[in-house]
Amino acid sequence: MLIAQITDCHVVERGTLLSGSVDTAAGLRTAVEHVLTMTPRPDAVIATGDLVNDARPEEYDHLVELLAPLRDAGLPLHLVPGNHDDRAEMRARFPDLPATDVAADRLDRVIDDHLGAHGIRLIALDTTVPGQQGGRVTDDQMAWLDGVLASGADVPTLVFQHHPPFVTGIGWMDENTFEGADLQAETLARHDHVVGVVCGHLHRPIVATFGRTAVSCWPSTGAQLALALAGERYLYSDEPGAIALHRWDPRTGLTSHLHQFTGGEPWLPDWAAAMS
Ligand SMILES: [Fe+2]
Ligand SMILES: [Fe+2]
Repeated sequence: MLIAQITDCHVVERGTLLSGSVDTAAGLRTAVEHVLTMTPRPDAVIATGDLVNDARPEEYDHLVELLAPLRDAGLPLHLVPGNHDDRAEMRARFPDLPATDVAADRLDRVIDDHLGAHGIRLIALDTTVPGQQGGRVTDDQMAWLDGVLASGADVPTLVFQHHPPFVTGIGWMDENTFEGADLQAETLARHDHVVGVVCGHLHRPIVATFGRTAVSCWPSTGAQLALALAGERYLYSDEPGAIALHRWDPRTGLTSHLHQFTGGEPWLPDWAAAMS
């Protein structure tokens, strides 16, 4: 199974640019085009939050329009919110999202749509806290997750959420704290069949260990943050937009690839050309 991940699209209203300069609609449009035209074509798309920038209805209308080709192609699309999103606006536009949930107002859910064909379960975890940049998981949420994982003891499971539960070294982004990281790591570590956790939020490709599993976050479809490990603040970078491709094979496990929108033209070196 091939799962395409799009994240941090930060769509703004039609005809406008993010921060007056970044065409995030073009970024998402490119992401959708890549998903629909690549070979092999992904079997499903997960979107890990910050889908729009200011949670305004007009932005969500624009988002729906930009994502429509995925729906038209019959590609399953599974969403979780980010700190720039609004749960009610998302629920109003994406009927697959649960109207209510296990607790609070979160959009946590188990997605078994791909269990039969591909043998993998997805869990969407809503780590957002309305009004806050940072994320969290709560005691009741982890109790729910623990129960869900225990009920599917032999089912390989991939968790996706917006906020990465690790420290990056990029100081100004690390100020967006993640409450409950230890609790989430302990919860996941009780279940051998968790194959990974994939996130967004940091607008960069980063991997880390997390308890007994791996966690990663991936670039935005539209605007990247700079690799600022010397304390520089608020720096963006001109790195290209990208998606992640998570390849699940029940025999060999999960392998995740970064697919950037530019700069990836294939070419054959001399030694390989001589062999063909
Ligand atoms: Fe973001
Ligand atoms: Fe975010």
